[in-house]
Amino acid sequence: MKYPTHPDAPAVKTEQLSRTYESLVALNSLDLVVNRGDLFGFIGSNGAGKTTTLRILSTFLTPSSGRAEVLGYDVVRKPDAVRHIIGYMPDFFGVYRDMVVWEYLDFFGACYQIKSRERDQTIRDVLELVGLSEKKDQLIGALSRGMQQRLGLARVLIHDPELLLLDEPASGLDPRARVEMMAILQELQKMGKTIIISSHILSELQALCNRVAIIEKGTLKYAGPIEGVGQDLSQQRHFRVLCSGSPEEFLPRFMELPEVSDPVIEKGRIRFTLEDGSVDPSGILSRLVSQGVPVRDFHQEEISLEKVFMNYTSGETQ
Ligand SMILES: Nc1ncnc2c1ncn2[C@@H]1O[C@H](COP(=O)(O)OP(=O)(O)O)[C@@H](O)[C@H]1O
Ligand SMILES: [Mg+2]
Repeated sequence: MKYPTHPDAPAVKTEQLSRTYESLVALNSLDLVVNRGDLFGFIGSNGAGKTTTLRILSTFLTPSSGRAEVLGYDVVRKPDAVRHIIGYMPDFFGVYRDMVVWEYLDFFGACYQIKSRERDQTIRDVLELVGLSEKKDQLIGALSRGMQQRLGLARVLIHDPELLLLDEPASGLDPRARVEMMAILQELQKMGKTIIISSHILSELQALCNRVAIIEKGTLKYAGPIEGVGQDLSQQRHFRVLCSGSPEEFLPRFMELPEVSDPVIEKGRIRFTLEDGSVDPSGILSRLVSQGVPVRDFHQEEISLEKVFMNYTSGETQ
């Protein structure tokens, strides 16, 4: 059965979504929109409410109050439609160690009522996508953790869902397997899928996701573009400058500029701060150069997501 989705419906929309477990409020009035085509990072420390949210969106758990829609379908009223248009990869899933890779995918393809003729091709396609074509006839138990995780991803792709809900898919993977997983997710985004990925590993989402939400103790702290993270926290920007010759010689030139705060030498470069968000750094650069400072490299430090996250979740600003 095909469930058409309305082109104007966002991938996910929650309104005042809450979930309690007895007296514990695991999710508190979450208002969240995920647009189609997003690679959306859902960030929070352990116990923040990520799994609870993803389980509600994938219809495994009912909300205590509020509502959630997936591609226009209400998760409580239209669970069958939602199950067909999403692929949900839980944080822990059984791996059927004694099954062969293709058997496993064939089983799930049959569950989704994909006809056996089409199933062969579909299995080939998803294995290709996750880089497991060569492992088609291997026992799942003999695969590495990274490969098992990619097989899990292949499984949730088998019915060609529009939205993927991936609960900490990179946790427990070694760095190489993690990079491979991230590359596959980028590929899937290019194919037009919407992807929500939860993680407590912030740095990997920084490079991967175009939008993020940060939650703590069931409460949303930030939702929006990755570039916007931290902007409302502080106007402060930090810069690093590499000069030809010794930095000690040129440090006084930086000290003379009134907009520049705290110039110091760090690892052979001059680091300084602009406190005023309206100052154009290119003006600083041209003044340095016109005063004879031989600038070889001039760049703004990226705001690390870790730092921002610590700020959001402690309720402080820098
Ligand atoms: N089945 C459950 N029964 C009772 N408490 C639960 C249950 N599932 C989760 N919780 C609690 O709800 C909160 C949110 O959990 P969870 O959504 O798993 O967070 P995360 O995935 O961000 O680590 C935690 O305090 C957790 O202990
Ligand atoms: Mg979790």
